Amino acid sequence: MTDWVEVDAFLSERLVEPLPDFDAGGLPPHEVTGLQGKLLCLLARMVGARSILELGTLGGYSTIWLARSGARVVTLESDPSYAAVARSNIARAGLASAVDLRVGPALDTLPLLEGPFDLIFIDADKRSNPEYLDWALRLSREGTAIVADNVVRGGAVLDAAGADPSAQGVRRFLDMVAADPRLDATALQTVGAKGWDGFVLALVSAGEP
Ligand code: SAH
Ligand code: DHB
Ligand code: MG
Repeated sequence: MTDWVEVDAFLSERLVEPLPDFDAGGLPPHEVTGLQGKLLCLLARMVGARSILELGTLGGYSTIWLARSGARVVTLESDPSYAAVARSNIARAGLASAVDLRVGPALDTLPLLEGPFDLIFIDADKRSNPEYLDWALRLSREGTAIVADNVVRGGAVLDAAGADPSAQGVRRFLDMVAADPRLDATALQTVGAKGWDGFVLALVSAGEP
């Protein structure tokens, strides 16, 4: 664990310029790491994203990395106080005009959106990941990239017994991804400053629903 954190710092120092003026504002430390934020930015550039949808803004850390790709970002956050912190971080980053922050439970704001988005980052409450996958597909086109955070959670994903609603949401999400002919997907386990976790990376194709 210590080694992971040290290596994370070593790699970040070399490859990731810290976001200037970002203020975590006393929010829970649940944002992606610097290396992961830059991964999101590079993925957006690799798929040529012009429009991005993010579920789960927190203080806007991942939002800023996504918007630094040059795309427009719609980001959904249920907590008004977190959204206020995000708004000021996004403004300080000079990205206010690129980011559309919608406050409210994602299942209330998703029906108001118009797709398709080029990249969708699912990183809100994990118990709702199955519903979020349905919405992501509805708001996708062929070629949309879907990225989901926290699919490993220190191995909690293996807990099939059902005590942890987040683990159950992630497991159901993985089963849905695997079963959907429109999706080609993989998962990437990660270690680093946030411990042991992972992403799902999926590409929407033209498969029959
Ligand atoms: N993407 C952020 C981290 C998000 S943490 C980053 O990497 O910087 C998860 C966020 O989802 C929290 O801010 C939490 O308030 C929000 N959230 C939880 N339930 C939600 C819901 N139903 N709708 C929208 N956001 C929700
Ligand atoms: C936690 C981590 C996350 O990346 C997230 O999106 C939500 C919660 C956590 O460590 O609890
Ligand atoms: Mg996350």
